[in-house]
Amino acid sequence: MDNKKLAFFIDLKPAVEDFSTAVAHGLSQSPKELPCRFFYDEAGSALFEKICETEEYYVTRAEKALLTRIAPEIAAIAGPGCSVVELGTGSNAKIRILLNALAAPSAYIPIDISGVHLLAAATEIAVEFPDVAVGAICGDFVGMTALPEGVNTGSGPKLGFFPGSTIGNFEPDVAREFLSRTRGVLGPGDGFVIGVDLKKDVTRLTAAYNDAAGYTAAFNKNVLVRMRNELGVAIDLDQFEHMAFFNEAKSRVEMHLRSLRTQDIALGSQTFHLAKNEMIHTENSCKYTVEDFKVLSEQAGFDPIEVWTDERHDFSIHYLRTPG
Ligand code: AVJ
Repeated sequence: MDNKKLAFFIDLKPAVEDFSTAVAHGLSQSPKELPCRFFYDEAGSALFEKICETEEYYVTRAEKALLTRIAPEIAAIAGPGCSVVELGTGSNAKIRILLNALAAPSAYIPIDISGVHLLAAATEIAVEFPDVAVGAICGDFVGMTALPEGVNTGSGPKLGFFPGSTIGNFEPDVAREFLSRTRGVLGPGDGFVIGVDLKKDVTRLTAAYNDAAGYTAAFNKNVLVRMRNELGVAIDLDQFEHMAFFNEAKSRVEMHLRSLRTQDIALGSQTFHLAKNEMIHTENSCKYTVEDFKVLSEQAGFDPIEVWTDERHDFSIHYLRTPG
């Protein structure tokens, strides 16, 4: 792939976390866990796209429709000449909606840990929006406290963009710290547009993570597939069951893999024992009320400027601003 269509490509050479080390660590915990970021290899990302098309998983549809409706209002608040900094890259559908609505956006700078995916996504936008300077940063936005040296964001204000309710994968304390660090990636007085899934009827929440076609189950089990393929772990996928339920006390949907029998997972020289019905915790998707997320963002040092929800009150988009 060539990157000559990009204004810049900064490779921070993010440490590639060793899958084997992370699996060994997670399976040593009690209860056992596996980090959800390992869902997203090529097959896992394709399964996530399938999940987004299911009737049950309202999240992506609700966010896109809401963003389409309010994009002009976001643009009015943000003003002309913004440089959009996106945390992560998705299917590009959402950034298109935003860039099309903003008045003469000057730059678009996605940050993503996967260089290949980042380059492809950024190049696509560079071609579609020739008047926008598109530069990309290959790095881990989660730990980032400032933009790297040498990033030209232009003279206009920055506008952070973090759609998808990815924030929900962090527990609230971690989300607060992450948001606080992100103020440093932006500058004083800059905007931050963040998509946050809302707490709702338990039946719908549960269904969204238990689609009838089984894509979510396959997505959850994809981490086992990766362990088998990449780490040579002997795993019978049929001996695990996908589980997803709403934890009311913690206001989050949890995904787990339940062991259907007593079994051992042998990884290198280590063996991890699973009792029958023992669960491996694979993901949290925290669900907020509009008010709770507003409070969280304030605790993280942002000023809440505006918040929108769709008619069904399924999803929220918050416009936050850094003080200054
Ligand atoms: C992409 C992290 C927002 O938590 O809803 C979808 C991932 N997990 N179905 C979410 C996911 C199960 C999704 N996020």
